[in-house]
Amino acid sequence: MTAPPLPAARTVEALRNQVGAWKAAGLRVGFTPTMGALHEGHLSLVRLARTRADRVVASVFVNPTQFAPGEDFEAYPRDEAGDAALLAGAGCDLLYAPTVSEMYAPGFSTTVNVAGVSEPLDGLARPTHFAGVATVVTKLLLQCAPHVAVFGEKDYQQLQVIRRLVADLDIPVEVIGGPTVRAPDGLALSSRNAYLTETERAVAPVLHQALVQATARLRQGGSVSHVEAQAAETLAAAGFGPVDYVEVRDAGDLTRLGPGSVLGEARILAAARLGKTRLIDNLAVWS
Ligand code: PAF
Repeated sequence: MTAPPLPAARTVEALRNQVGAWKAAGLRVGFTPTMGALHEGHLSLVRLARTRADRVVASVFVNPTQFAPGEDFEAYPRDEAGDAALLAGAGCDLLYAPTVSEMYAPGFSTTVNVAGVSEPLDGLARPTHFAGVATVVTKLLLQCAPHVAVFGEKDYQQLQVIRRLVADLDIPVEVIGGPTVRAPDGLALSSRNAYLTETERAVAPVLHQALVQATARLRQGGSVSHVEAQAAETLAAAGFGPVDYVEVRDAGDLTRLGPGSVLGEARILAAARLGKTRLIDNLAVWS
């Protein structure tokens, strides 16, 4: 059975009217922000939101401020009709698809900067990225005002940045991380996988394999710096390059592990380029 067409809100006012009506009726509202080009990973987040709420909103907004000049903002895949059909099938109740001018009115001047957790890893490789993410996510959460918001663990540093800003700014929402969805060969699903050539797609699962191997070595007592270096070598040998990072970090604030740190609370994160595509992935060291 095909799902009925999904209602869409294009303005903050239309979004607030619908969410306000649901709340007035005593319903819990869940929210899944996305940039569209949806795949099974996003749909799993919508389904997770559905288990925690009576109504689910999903936003599709390709946020220009989280792309640096020269990154893939223009090329980022866009297919609103396809996304809407997938969202309806996953149990979403409302698509929020604002325009760039609705989100960033003339004179827009505010940036949300999350110090600390935004700074290492992707913060070094993409210096303006997390300010763009933190600003748009703050706006989206204030616009929708959901009870619960779901973000993917695939973008683990982003998830920790969002947890930090929600706590720091007293935004009344429960943030939930949804597990990474993988292809059968282990590659984490990502809208950017569409950029991979056939040859690159065959190599791409090595990123996940290297992290699985690294976590096994850490659990066997391997030293963090040695294991990180081995994983980076595995990636380089498979054809990845440059490898931006393979690092074991505290799973909460993403600081480096000190001598007394507990590996049970650590996460290994990696980012590396394969041809023109930059892939990221991460795993709990002890899951
Ligand atoms: O993860 C994403 O798709 C984006 O970074 C987000 C959270 C929707 C903000 O634009």
